[in-house]
Amino acid sequence: MMLPLKRRRALEANKLAAAQRESSEKQTNGLTHVDSEMLDDKLAVMQRESNKMQNGGPAHVNTEFSHCGKCDVNSDSKGGFFADQFENLANYRAHYECTGPEIWKQTKGNLHAFVAAAGTGGTIAGVSRYLKEKNRSIKCFLMDPPGSGLFNKVTRGVMYTKEEAEGKRLKNPFDTITEGIGINRVTKNFMMAELDGAYRGSDREAVEMSRFLLKNDGLFVGSSSAMNCVGAVRVAQDLGPGHTIVTILCDSGMRHLSKFFNEQYLADHGLTPTATGLEFLDK
Ligand SMILES: Cc1ncc(COP(=O)(O)O)c(C=O)c1O
Repeated sequence: MMLPLKRRRALEANKLAAAQRESSEKQTNGLTHVDSEMLDDKLAVMQRESNKMQNGGPAHVNTEFSHCGKCDVNSDSKGGFFADQFENLANYRAHYECTGPEIWKQTKGNLHAFVAAAGTGGTIAGVSRYLKEKNRSIKCFLMDPPGSGLFNKVTRGVMYTKEEAEGKRLKNPFDTITEGIGINRVTKNFMMAELDGAYRGSDREAVEMSRFLLKNDGLFVGSSSAMNCVGAVRVAQDLGPGHTIVTILCDSGMRHLSKFFNEQYLADHGLTPTATGLEFLDK
């Protein structure tokens, strides 16, 4: 059967990227420069999936959007590989096969809730699916930043955010200090998530939380991680004492020096942190 052109091109690009990776690995004496065990795991999963498909075996998720497949060896296609992290379910699978099991292992299965914001949705989808399969009573929640429509999608089934209401629609996407989280469409990755509810967080809460984590825990994290921790406190407030709640610290503060950790930028946007504790999360 003849594959559609776009898919053939994606497969060709995939093959090319693999060849380039192989050649650069040779140039570094076979040493791949990955700096965490987690990344190693993710790469191994993706490689395994790709191998499975090339051997004609089934992919873990049955989807017509799988980007792994047998490539045209004779292709002369040039260029890079469009990973398409938003729609490519290899993203979801990496979290289903690595992040979810890592959380399960580290907590020895003793957790009550997981909460995280979504960009592509890969993390929340992979982790929530895995945890729910292990124990359906584990609650999984979305934490949504300003300007994102996902909160309403999860809680009301409608993709909507008041910042984009009719008559108010901005020319540019709604501005938020957070980066990499929040979106106004439902991605293929997000569709795989199994959620019990959603929370909303503000820019101010994220900024205050980042300073709280720095002062009290020695953690220098970026806006997504700070927002995730705001989510963890919200879930804790709702579940009450005696529960184990897991979230993800997915970005370092080093990537956020020009805005999130820039005093002048924060002052210009009325976001100078003032809290001494977590009082900014009082209900
Ligand atoms: C800095 C940052 N935080 C959070 C996320 C959200 O994770 P996910 O894309 O898995 O939803 C991303 C997305 O790539 C990101 O770049």
